[in-house]
Amino acid sequence: MEKFLNFLPDIEVESPGRINLIGEHIDYNGGFVLPAAIDKVIHFKFKKRKDNLIHVQSMAFDNPLKIEINKLDKSPISWHNYLIGVLYYINLLCPDKIQGFDCVFKSNLPVGSGISSSAALECGFAKGVNELLKLNLSNQEIISLCQRAEHDFAGTKCGIMDQYAVINGIDNHFLLLNCQKITHKLVPAKLLNHKIVLLNTNISHNLSTSEYNVRTQECQSALDSIKLKYPEYKFLCDVPIEIINEFKTNLPLNHYKRAVFASEENQRTLKAVDYLKNEDVVQLGNLLYSSHEGLRNLYEVSCKELDFLVDFTINNSSVKGARMMGGGFGGCTLNIVKEDYVDLFINDISQAYLEKFNIKLTPHIVKTNNGAKVL
Ligand code: GLA
Repeated sequence: MEKFLNFLPDIEVESPGRINLIGEHIDYNGGFVLPAAIDKVIHFKFKKRKDNLIHVQSMAFDNPLKIEINKLDKSPISWHNYLIGVLYYINLLCPDKIQGFDCVFKSNLPVGSGISSSAALECGFAKGVNELLKLNLSNQEIISLCQRAEHDFAGTKCGIMDQYAVINGIDNHFLLLNCQKITHKLVPAKLLNHKIVLLNTNISHNLSTSEYNVRTQECQSALDSIKLKYPEYKFLCDVPIEIINEFKTNLPLNHYKRAVFASEENQRTLKAVDYLKNEDVVQLGNLLYSSHEGLRNLYEVSCKELDFLVDFTINNSSVKGARMMGGGFGGCTLNIVKEDYVDLFINDISQAYLEKFNIKLTPHIVKTNNGAKVL
């Protein structure tokens, strides 16, 4: 950590992780999602160099990235690739503008836990390079170049939600993000006397990248089949459930299930916004449980550890809702928990989880936050 403190920067950037209240796996299906940036962040320091080298040091990982701007090849070290991808796409947008610099970063965002440490890394790094080298990239350009970096350098064909929320988050609000128009409306995060508690399973199944990409393809195939009869639908989330049901016997079962989930989850997100506006935390919580059911049985991206944590909260009136969050196959559950019950809840569920799986949970009580910013 000394290295971090002793590094005297030209600029500093703070980049948050994100949660997603509801609207899972539908950003790439043209749906509405409801994320927020959170108070767990990556802190970057940047300083210009006189040569063309780029050195990036993480306080958590060995193997600093040392690269020249004209040699942006993929690295065998996975965290390097997020940054190399960002540099690659910045260089395409701003040819010959990237000069050498040093960067160090430290993070309190757990990796592989579904709170998007990768988008925080990409977007914070891009924002810092943009400011340090005065490149005048817009937030929209930063969001989309970071998404492309994730697709092509990290290999996840992700939607736009994570990068969008990391850049555009506003404290005390969720973003109702329209993933077709790539615009958002702010929804006040009023949960009355409740807190958002994330429970990290500390499981990160290898399936998360490969199965993620399979899901995006399954959804595309389902949409392609539906469009043969109904060409007016451009996105799976727009197809009403009655029309999807017409295809029950024509579509492969998996594709049918994915389509039902996407259509229903989209409706749930819109309902959740109404419940938030009416401060109806009970109904909101019920939607979270329905979302989890869908992710478990129709979309099939949950796992036994996540299911156990969600099931543990059912019938407990102090927990209004719970569901897996993010890509799935491990990572966190998101729980809406009565303020005065949070400590006891964490205690009880951690003990039960330890007994069941012999794994320690990591709880995080999170608050909403602003998006990535130059300090
Ligand atoms: C990952 C992706 C997002 C989104 C979620 C699931 O976090 O990066 O684009 O698809 O999974 O909702």
